Amino acid sequence: MTAGQKLTGRYAASIMPNYGQPPVALARGEGCWVWDADGERYLDLIGGIAVSALGHGHPAIVQAVTRQVATLAHTSNLFVHEPEVELAERLLGLLGAAGGRVFFANSGTEANEAALKVVRRFQDKHGGADRHVIVAAEHGFHGRTRGALALTGKASIREPFGPFGLTVRFVPYGDETALREATGTDCAAVFLEPCQGEAGVVPAPGGYLRAARAACDSAGALLVLDEIQSGIGRTGAWFAHQREGVLPDVLTLAKGLGGGLPIGACIGLGECGTALDKGDHGSTFGGNPVACAAALAVLDTIAADGLLDHVASLGNRLVTGIGAIGHPLLTGVRGQGLWLAITLAGPVAGRAEEACRNAGFLVNAVQPDAIRLAPPLILSSAQAGLFAQALPAILTEAAR
Ligand SMILES: Cc1ncc(COP(=O)(O)O)c(C=O)c1O
Repeated sequence: MTAGQKLTGRYAASIMPNYGQPPVALARGEGCWVWDADGERYLDLIGGIAVSALGHGHPAIVQAVTRQVATLAHTSNLFVHEPEVELAERLLGLLGAAGGRVFFANSGTEANEAALKVVRRFQDKHGGADRHVIVAAEHGFHGRTRGALALTGKASIREPFGPFGLTVRFVPYGDETALREATGTDCAAVFLEPCQGEAGVVPAPGGYLRAARAACDSAGALLVLDEIQSGIGRTGAWFAHQREGVLPDVLTLAKGLGGGLPIGACIGLGECGTALDKGDHGSTFGGNPVACAAALAVLDTIAADGLLDHVASLGNRLVTGIGAIGHPLLTGVRGQGLWLAITLAGPVAGRAEEACRNAGFLVNAVQPDAIRLAPPLILSSAQAGLFAQALPAILTEAAR
């Protein structure tokens, strides 16, 4: 029995079966490469589901985390510490908003839970206490706790856990008219992803976020953008919504923000920043100094190394390269920056994911007919080229 088989056997006997059985036991990583428990090397093109923004073992994160853990690892929310304040200031600066405040959590789901409470409090304070409806998109994903899950537009994962105590009106994603019609005076907020990640990296049509902004403004509802997967450089902009020139009322972040350390952020802009009063919300670990230090290292490195431009141009080249492959199983490639879905002619994404792995590439079967790439933002052109070159043979293996 291999080391990987031994470990996955122990996993099956000790970890709850909600993730099924992962196919590989990873042991270490360096840059965009990872090695499994038996020493096999893979190019990591999924980055821990759009998390490992700087890859593995990046010196900036290692130094920041090492220094911070040795200086002050935890304070709780009873005390102030510099990394948390600095990170909040930096995020607000990147948003370019006139005013705002940040609540730090530990995950994306928690950031969305905080957003739900901000919406509720804001509406209570501004004459909207009877607005009981949230509008969200079909096939959207906002997390697994029961507030975030109530907003999640995939019935198969939501419905077994209802009812939720939250009235959510689901609309087809990308349909401006449906969104406008659903956003009435009973609506407290609209929750949207600028590009639906878990649905298979499905970008909103141009103008959709602007239409959402206008629908919210005319109905007196708040616009909450979930940039948990799309934010922090993933699409080649700090935040995906910036391409549309709109500002949300509330923005949620996680994933790439910590570069592998667990952190989430709920950013309230304007008066949403001060909607929560003392005692309204909290988290023991949220805004932990070590996670904040890692996030600051991520932001510094993206800026210093010009990674936004790199992500945009390498993403374009990958789309062109993959799009030029004439293979009967390949129907297209969509997405932006280093966040792409390769679409397939049938429900064979599981087989394609396995064929990628056999060829030394980690990707994710995000939908039955689509595999997702969300590699570290530091992926090199040569590394992307390795994958593009190997893809025809991978597709042929998946088609067998
Ligand atoms: C858009 C979006 N929102 C929320 C979440 C939930 O984040 P987490 O798994 O960190 O709780 C995810 C995770 O995939 C996501 O993609």
